[in-house]
Amino acid sequence: MEPTIDQICVAALKEVEAATTSDAVQELNTKYLGRKGVITQFLRSVALLPPEERPAAGRRANQVKQQIEAACQAAMARIESAAAERKDAIDVSLPGRKTAPGALHPLTQIAYRICDIFTRMGFEVVEGPEVESDYYNFEALNIPKNHPARDMQDTFYVSEDIVLRTHTSPTQPRVMEKRRPPVRIIAPGKVYRCDSDITHTPMFHQVEGLLVDEKVSFGDLKGTLTEFVHQMFDPQTRLRFRPSFFPFTEPSAEVDIQCVICRGKGCRVCKQTGWLEILGSGMVHPAVLENVGYDTTRYTGFAFGMGVERITMLKFGVDDIRKYFENDLRFLRQF
Ligand code: PHE
Repeated sequence: MEPTIDQICVAALKEVEAATTSDAVQELNTKYLGRKGVITQFLRSVALLPPEERPAAGRRANQVKQQIEAACQAAMARIESAAAERKDAIDVSLPGRKTAPGALHPLTQIAYRICDIFTRMGFEVVEGPEVESDYYNFEALNIPKNHPARDMQDTFYVSEDIVLRTHTSPTQPRVMEKRRPPVRIIAPGKVYRCDSDITHTPMFHQVEGLLVDEKVSFGDLKGTLTEFVHQMFDPQTRLRFRPSFFPFTEPSAEVDIQCVICRGKGCRVCKQTGWLEILGSGMVHPAVLENVGYDTTRYTGFAFGMGVERITMLKFGVDDIRKYFENDLRFLRQF
C-alpha cells in the first residue's frame, strides 16, 4: 500500500527535525518539495482522484507542503545559530594551555655569575673563536712544539694547524694584539679536549681572565681571585695558591679553595685533603707579552683560567659532570 499523505508528513517532519547540517536540510527540501519531490508528485496525483475527493486531498497536501517548508526553515535557523554559538563559545571545562617558560642551564647560570662578579670589578667580557689556529692556541702562548698539550690524544685537530681550542687562553694574545694596556678582560666559552669519564667531557667551559697594566703584581692576582672566591662561594672560604707550571705564566699557581662540602675536614669530594682545585693562574709570561709587541719593561700582567663545570659541581654539590650534558629535565629543573 502507498503511504498516506499523513504518514509522509510524519516521516518528513521527523527527518527534518533530525538533520544536523544545512546541506542535509537542503536535500530534504528537494526530496519532498522539489520538482520531482514526494509532495509535488502527490499534488499532481490529486487530479486523478474522483472529483468529490479532490478538494479535501488537495487542501491536505498543501497543508503538509507548508508544514514541511516551515520545518525546513526552522531547522536552518537552528543549525545556523548553533554554529554561531560554537564559534565564540568558551569551554570552561577544558584544561588551560600551558606556556612552558625556559630556564637557564645550571652551567649558564654559573658562567653568568662568574662574569657578573668580574664585570663589577671592571673586567670586560670578550669572546674568541672555538675553532682556533695552532698559533693562538699554542705558539703565541709560549707552548713549544713538543708540549704534551699538543698531543694528538688531547687536542682535536681540524687540520695540521687548525684545532678546536683546548683552553680559553688564546683569547689573551687575540685581545692584546688589538689593544694597548691597560687590558682587563674575561673570556667565557667552550673548549675541547679528547677526554671522557666521570669528571671529563670532550667539550667543557672555561672563563679566562687577563689583566695587563703598569705595576701589576702577584698581590693583585691574589686579591682579585680572593675577592672572586668570597663572592662566588662565601666570605669565609679560604684559598691557597699552590706553585704550578704553565708555559704562558711565570710564576704559575693553581688555586685551591677549602672544600665547600666538609669545610676542610676531609671528605669524598676533596679526596680527604680538605682542598679543591678550582683554577690555574699566574703572571703573564714575558714571552707572551713580547709576542704581541708589549714593552715588558713597562707592563706586567696576571691571567687565570677556571673551569665552569668544576665550579658548578662545587656550587650545586653534583659531582658527575655527565649529568650536566644529558638534558634530563628532571635533573635540570632542580636548579
Ligand atoms: N689555560 C689553562 C688551562 O686550561 C689555565 C690557565 C689560564 C692557567 C691562564 C694560567 C693562566 O689549564
